[in-house]
Amino acid sequence: MSKLFPVLYDIAMKPLEKTRFEKIRANLVQKAQGRVIEIGFGTGANFRYYRGAERVDAIEPNPQMSKHAAKRIKNARTPIFTYEARAEKLPFEDNSFDSVVATLVFCTIPYPIKALQEIQRVSKPGAKVLLFEHVKMDQEAIGKAQEVVTPVWKKLCDGCHLDRDTLELVKRSGLKVEKVTSYYGGLFLTIECLNTK
Ligand SMILES: C[S@@+](CC[C@H](N)C(=O)[O-])C[C@H]1O[C@@H](n2cnc3c(N)ncnc32)[C@H](O)[C@@H]1O
Repeated sequence: MSKLFPVLYDIAMKPLEKTRFEKIRANLVQKAQGRVIEIGFGTGANFRYYRGAERVDAIEPNPQMSKHAAKRIKNARTPIFTYEARAEKLPFEDNSFDSVVATLVFCTIPYPIKALQEIQRVSKPGAKVLLFEHVKMDQEAIGKAQEVVTPVWKKLCDGCHLDRDTLELVKRSGLKVEKVTSYYGGLFLTIECLNTK
């Protein structure tokens, strides 16, 4: 990954901070309670929004991203503990977490099915799983365009798949999908689930 990507990522996110996009992120993250695991925290964009959480154990595989999170960790109201790890192999015991947060990350995880299995393993029965993701769109022509663009997009945007059907993957994983809300014509979804294992 280029050292430029995290810098560009923060620059791209900055103008969104006072927008509907940021409200969606904030409203979702505020639903996390108890001991929370955050998957792929990147530069820490969610950290300021935790309210009901006791602590957040946040994983991110890429130190180029996580090193930009230091100030947000310091300013967060909730204690944040960070780990260099991948979603496909989480360094935690079974049944450890009350809530799971993942935003804009399932598009990039190389093995999303394995990641969903790990999320179910480390979260407690009944845990909330809260996702905010861009997804492959239902409209056929747009979905096809997303497929066509993805090989180039992946190279430019750190492995991001524009054409990933994350909702379908979540449904197949065995998580119980409780609420799906569509934004921006269906390009972005919040997906709220329960771990019913
Ligand atoms: C677009 S950024 C999103 C960062 C942050 N979650 C946010 O909402 O701003 C995607 C993040 O997923 C991380 N990532 C990539 N592969 C991953 C994996 N296997 N497990 C966990 N995170 C991963 C990337 O390093 C990157 O920080």
